[in-house]
Amino acid sequence: MTTVIDGKQVAASVIDAVKTASQALKDQAGVKTGLAVVIVGNDPASHAYVSSKSKMAKECGFTSVQHTLPEETTQEELAALVQTLNKDESLHGILVQLPLPKHLNSEPIIQSILPEKDVDGLHVVNAGKLATGDLDGGLVSCTPAGAMVFVKRTHGEDLSGLNAVVIGRSNLFGKPMAQLLLAANATVTIAHSRTRDLAAVCRNADILVAAVGRPEMVKADWVKPGATVIDVGINRIAAPERGEGKSRLVGDVAFEECAEVAAVITPVPGGVGPMTIAMLMANTVIAAYRKAGKTAPKF
Ligand code: GUN
Repeated sequence: MTTVIDGKQVAASVIDAVKTASQALKDQAGVKTGLAVVIVGNDPASHAYVSSKSKMAKECGFTSVQHTLPEETTQEELAALVQTLNKDESLHGILVQLPLPKHLNSEPIIQSILPEKDVDGLHVVNAGKLATGDLDGGLVSCTPAGAMVFVKRTHGEDLSGLNAVVIGRSNLFGKPMAQLLLAANATVTIAHSRTRDLAAVCRNADILVAAVGRPEMVKADWVKPGATVIDVGINRIAAPERGEGKSRLVGDVAFEECAEVAAVITPVPGGVGPMTIAMLMANTVIAAYRKAGKTAPKF
């Protein structure tokens, strides 16, 4: 029997743990955890993501601040806002929603966030800590951290002897995911668009993580029988069967056929997606514990 991971349920258990941790910090140190979310421009999908992040922060008992800036915001204005948020002692986490409008350069903005408030885990200091195996000192990018929760709940903390293949090499996901798997002792391959015979590489994977942004690219004959398949893709495709002009979300994995071969698989939607927000909340409460000089909880 194939296990289909219920991402909403796992995310809810992480959120419960975050609520308990933030309440404990309030009770023990009088500190209320604070998260600032910044969005620039009018992209409807980004607005939807950001409002669910702000809402979840409130639900977790955090101070939740949202800065909604107009499309024509300048680089200097955005940089000045980040400096203000960096200095604000009531805020432990800062997230600038990506992508930014085209006229803005995201990299200097992300790198200007204090590393200890970089709950997205995108600052080079946090990327560097992960790369050097310092998992307890920095903040890990939320989507790989969430995918790793699934891997550990399936295989335990120690992945010794297991082959893991990550398809995708982005800074936001592929690289940090590979480093998390490596830190847990997996034998890791990072595959990408230039990899020769991708199917053969994937068939070697006990843990296959797909993050390429190509709808249903991973087919059943790419999957090793009994593998764990984590699908990080979110692709909107036309769904004429649902009516004219309708669409639906699919992952990077052809779910139905791969579910016949895998032992454990995540669906899209309802797999990794809900975990991203949960891990953002986890990172924020971790940042608040560290600022208060207390040992941070693990999620
Ligand atoms: N846009 C899509 N995913 C993310 C994310 O994880 N962090 C930020 N900042 N923006 C995003």
